[in-house]
Amino acid sequence: MVTIAVDGPSGSGKSSVSKAVAGRLGLAYLDTGAMYRAATLWCVRTDVALDDADAVARAVREMPLEMGVDPAAPGVVLDGDDVAAAIRTTEVSSAVSQVATNLEVRAEMKRRQRAVIDAENTDGFSGGRGIVAEGRDITTVVAPDADARVLLTASEEARLRRRSLEVHGAADAAAVDATRDQVLRRDRDDSTVSQFLTAADGVVTVDSSELDLDQTVAAVLSVVDRLGQWQ
Ligand code: DC
Repeated sequence: MVTIAVDGPSGSGKSSVSKAVAGRLGLAYLDTGAMYRAATLWCVRTDVALDDADAVARAVREMPLEMGVDPAAPGVVLDGDDVAAAIRTTEVSSAVSQVATNLEVRAEMKRRQRAVIDAENTDGFSGGRGIVAEGRDITTVVAPDADARVLLTASEEARLRRRSLEVHGAADAAAVDATRDQVLRRDRDDSTVSQFLTAADGVVTVDSSELDLDQTVAAVLSVVDRLGQWQ
């Protein structure tokens, strides 16, 4: 059993890298950002005003969310509805910080995320082999005791280029400009509640600015290898 925690800002590649690492090692995968996105969608769908912090916290505590942890197909099911695509819309992306900065929401998410991590270290999808969990407070708040903790960074330029390709299918100057505001604003808003731009004690930094996906996966696997005999 093993827990690998991966942190990092938007566009650092943490989702693709974490999924690939989990696939290579036969581990489960948890996208905690998808949980905050699902919580935002839940509030929108149930007509909860996002500026009413108490109502948001109450709604999120009752949210019927099932997170799939298969790295090849990590489903997000909200009240029986597959919302994997619906949580990636611009509407959700621009509202999610408001939900993610709610401290009661964060406490509830931490509880749910710990439950998934603990289940995968005893049984679950991975059969007890363990999990790669990614998201902004994973190495510091949710799983500070993880066996391997990685902060995936990349230069602002590399992060904007990747996000632009993902969102607009292009990385020319106009597309990058259109992405800049959203990415930098979200990182700034999120950094008020979780510190993810610099590595905490014991967290290994992997800079992916000059690496492609395979090279970044290899770099993270080498951090995990240094753990020794967990397998
Ligand atoms: O990684 P992402 O873009 O899917 O994350 C969505 C939002 O949730 C983003 O605003 C950061 C926030 N988040 C968080 O606050 N804590 C986490 N563990 C994961 C994501």
